[in-house]
Amino acid sequence: MDKYETIDKLKREKDAVILAHYYVDADVQKAADFVGDSYALAKKATGVSQQNILFAGVSFMGESAKLLNPDKHVYMADPCAGCKMADMVTAEDVLDIKSRYPNAAVVCYVNSTAAVKAVSDVCVTSSNAVRVVRSLKEKQIYFIPDAHLAQFVAKEVPEKEFIFHNGYCPTHRQITKEDLLRAKAAHPGALTLSHPECREEVLAASDFVGSTADIIRFAREHDADTYLIATETGVFYPLTQENPGKRFFPVQAEQLCPDMKLVSLQKLKSVLEHLDEQPEIILDQALMEQAKKPLERMLLLAESNGGNK
Ligand code: 13P
Ligand code: SF4
Repeated sequence: MDKYETIDKLKREKDAVILAHYYVDADVQKAADFVGDSYALAKKATGVSQQNILFAGVSFMGESAKLLNPDKHVYMADPCAGCKMADMVTAEDVLDIKSRYPNAAVVCYVNSTAAVKAVSDVCVTSSNAVRVVRSLKEKQIYFIPDAHLAQFVAKEVPEKEFIFHNGYCPTHRQITKEDLLRAKAAHPGALTLSHPECREEVLAASDFVGSTADIIRFAREHDADTYLIATETGVFYPLTQENPGKRFFPVQAEQLCPDMKLVSLQKLKSVLEHLDEQPEIILDQALMEQAKKPLERMLLLAESNGGNK
């Protein structure tokens, strides 16, 4: 039996489903039942029939799955895999923001802890942030934690007044305009597809800006044969699988999320083998009640404002 057959057998025996983000390694994506961006994963988690969800991704994704499915058991392939940006805002920061900006809606990027979600008004992901923010009644928006995504949304929704937090993703922020200009010179005519966590100057020099799923969709639907990709290189697996005739290049060599890279096939297998002894995601009941509200509101607003992804 090869590694994949062993994992499939264990999933059946343990009534488990594997959900994976596009940033994990290709061999892990191959073992997953479903691979998606943060939004698709949050939605998918609400519809699985298995009692056990094994998450190949980072902690905020597993927490979201638990918040939306309190009766399921949620395990992380590696419980140490966190998101650097999620740690850049605390619940205390949000309470302080609320007291200083009582009329603002606190819009919380899903890359955040459950404690921060619990005191926020609504969550967004990179694929629905524009339409969710546009649909809010409040004119003033305090967007946490990512300043780059917030600036991107602010441009798309000029009718709102934005206050920015100072969070960022180290993986995306280190991609510079100079990197992009060099990559464009090396691959003349290539289209640049960027994640909105990138710097404003990188986004301004891109042909398309979108979530990981949006980037994959764009490449599938366009005829160009060469693309520069400004996001974590895990997306190269679906991009190359789906588009055999097309070429994809990273803008620079360091587009790796160290936390996503903690997830491995061996860890998936070992968690499944010893599921009963694994630490599952446990959140305080009162915290869960509060933290799931902005997430559920996001799902509702994203769907009722044109979301079909
Ligand atoms: P997506 O919402 O595009 O999946 O991105 C999640 C993320 O962590 C980006 O760094
Ligand atoms: Fe967080 Fe950045 Fe990693 Fe995404 S790529 S999980 S935002 S640290």
